[in-house]
Amino acid sequence: MKRKVLLTLLLCSFIFTASADEGMWLPSLISSRIKDMRSKGFRLTEKDIYDINRASLKDAVVLFGRGCTGELISPEGLLLTNHHCGYGAIQALSSLEHDYLTYGFWAQSRQGELPCEGLEVSFLVRMEDVTDRIATGQSEKEIIAAACKEGKGFYAQIENMYYGNQKFLFVYRRFTDVRLVGTPPSAIGKFGGDTDNWIWPRHTGDFSVFRIYAGADNEPADYSPQNKPYRPKRHFPISTKGVKEGDFTMIYGFPGNTQEYVISDAVDYIYNISDPMKIALRTKRLDIITKAQESDPKIRIQYAAKHASIANAWKKWQGEVLGIKRLGTLEKKLRYEQEFASWAASRPEYCHLLDSMKAAYNRNRGPYYIGELYAETVMTLELPKMAAMAAAGKSVVQLHKDFNLEVDRALAKAMLAEFVRLMPEGKLPEALEVKVAQFGSTDAYIDHIYNNSLCREAATAAQCDKSDPAAEFYAIVRKEYPSQYRVRNLSNLAEIQRWYRPYLKALMEWDGKRSFYPDANLTLRVAYGSVAGYEYADGEWHVPQTTIDGIIAKDNPEIYDYNVPQRLRDIYQSKDYGRHGVMIDGRKSVPVCFLATNHTTGGNSGSPIINGRGELIGINFDRTWRSTMSDVEFDPTICRNISVDIRYVLFVIDRIGGASYLFDEMTLK
Ligand code: ARG
Ligand code: ASP
Repeated sequence: MKRKVLLTLLLCSFIFTASADEGMWLPSLISSRIKDMRSKGFRLTEKDIYDINRASLKDAVVLFGRGCTGELISPEGLLLTNHHCGYGAIQALSSLEHDYLTYGFWAQSRQGELPCEGLEVSFLVRMEDVTDRIATGQSEKEIIAAACKEGKGFYAQIENMYYGNQKFLFVYRRFTDVRLVGTPPSAIGKFGGDTDNWIWPRHTGDFSVFRIYAGADNEPADYSPQNKPYRPKRHFPISTKGVKEGDFTMIYGFPGNTQEYVISDAVDYIYNISDPMKIALRTKRLDIITKAQESDPKIRIQYAAKHASIANAWKKWQGEVLGIKRLGTLEKKLRYEQEFASWAASRPEYCHLLDSMKAAYNRNRGPYYIGELYAETVMTLELPKMAAMAAAGKSVVQLHKDFNLEVDRALAKAMLAEFVRLMPEGKLPEALEVKVAQFGSTDAYIDHIYNNSLCREAATAAQCDKSDPAAEFYAIVRKEYPSQYRVRNLSNLAEIQRWYRPYLKALMEWDGKRSFYPDANLTLRVAYGSVAGYEYADGEWHVPQTTIDGIIAKDNPEIYDYNVPQRLRDIYQSKDYGRHGVMIDGRKSVPVCFLATNHTTGGNSGSPIINGRGELIGINFDRTWRSTMSDVEFDPTICRNISVDIRYVLFVIDRIGGASYLFDEMTLK
């Protein structure tokens, strides 16, 4: 009996021990990993990664915009991130006359660099464990207020690690004068579009180039033509030597959200309830939008960005469901909990934990589901939202540019019908039921709204007031929308989350073999691994490097996502790759993307991926489809992150952009 328990314990810890490349580590605590990293090919020290007394790599990494990462690559504030991270800024700067999305943009001189209103980047100044200070009575507000006063542009946040067992202060310095230096055309930066999104083999040149500007004192300053390029403490040298299978890789960035320690109830909710509901609803929306796009080129453009963002998570969730199934995560979690329960049984401080957690899930699953249902149906409709904005005195002229009444009407009919169908008994807003009864059906009610709202057209939208039928609809659903349930994950609801604090503490006591790293929460992390292919299917191995030959193989002028720019075709024809040509498998080619085993998630887009010497070898931008369950369980045999090879970035800047003058300020190795 004893042996059996021991064996199961061993097995469990084997299953859940952070394996070779799992983990997103806090840079200030990286000393615990440095031995392992060095044994795998890392040549630098922990102080090179994070140091508050002298420049370290963290000073070359930024939080870019609202949820991406970027990296400094010159002493003059030059910055790289993904094309899909710069997309909003590039779109905002684009017009019919200057269509930078379609044709790309290269500044040619400092004067030509374009200010991006509203775009900001933040450097981590320092991080500090403040658990004890808070425990001894200091208030979080005080700590934050003091940190904000430390310097110009400073702001601070306190973030929970391990569900609050540790609390860390993060002090950031924000720069608000960020300018566009260059971007490839979408046919390179978004090559493969949604078709190839989350897919390997990949050929996307997903990068864009910006520059940070600062005041004469090199401190953060609002935009001014007098501002100077920011001189960072540190920037990444660039390796032009490339990588090969097995080489050490490290990713330094801002992963957004993982939940590796949740119990089976949470996995059950994700796998059986939430993901399937959201996938089905988005399938309906995407069908409607795609059909409209195919019928009208104007709609294709109007709904391109919306389609992309709906499809991105839609595809991710499908991969996640398959991954959880394939790994048997739910069953593994159940077994793990059983073992834990028998250990906890004799420990009064922990023995009731699982029961309390399960009870909390039972109470909160329903309301959280309703919140998700709102968010994925009625809250996605544009006409009601615009009407509410207009009624509040805001202009909706901009929004109308990318709005089609009939598309939104079709979406509204489908989503309201689903909202009613999927809503648990007795939970529909009463006012909505009255309206539907009054008009006879959900479709008839939607037609009434879409036929009569003054927000139908940009010209009359300003006259929208609270009595407008679309504004009224918005008010009805908004009123009952349980926004208090809109937290990152079900498990982050206060009533559930409070139990994870003692649970994690207990796990750390019980499961000594497991290496614990805090879940991602958009704070700076280090992930390390190596360049590696993987077995995609029985008998089908995916090699970790793609090349320009693969771009040309996908070339198809008939298909929007695969329409290769003529310039790239010409270069390929002539094989005149200049200094960018390398021998790959015995042929002269240009590398494009590569795979590695780093543990990443949303927010890691744009992150620097570096070799053992700390040189930039690429920019992270995606994972393979079958990796996406890594937000819940990481599987080292299959989870791969996708980066654009820095050699392709240099090739595009030089040969497509004609902007090789930028090389002068880089440190090329
Ligand atoms: N899947 C990547 C991420 O989650 C890239 C998304 C942008 N690309 C796209 N085709 N929608 O952000
Ligand atoms: N594409 C994601 C991002 O934008 C990265 C990922 O989910 O792997 O952050």
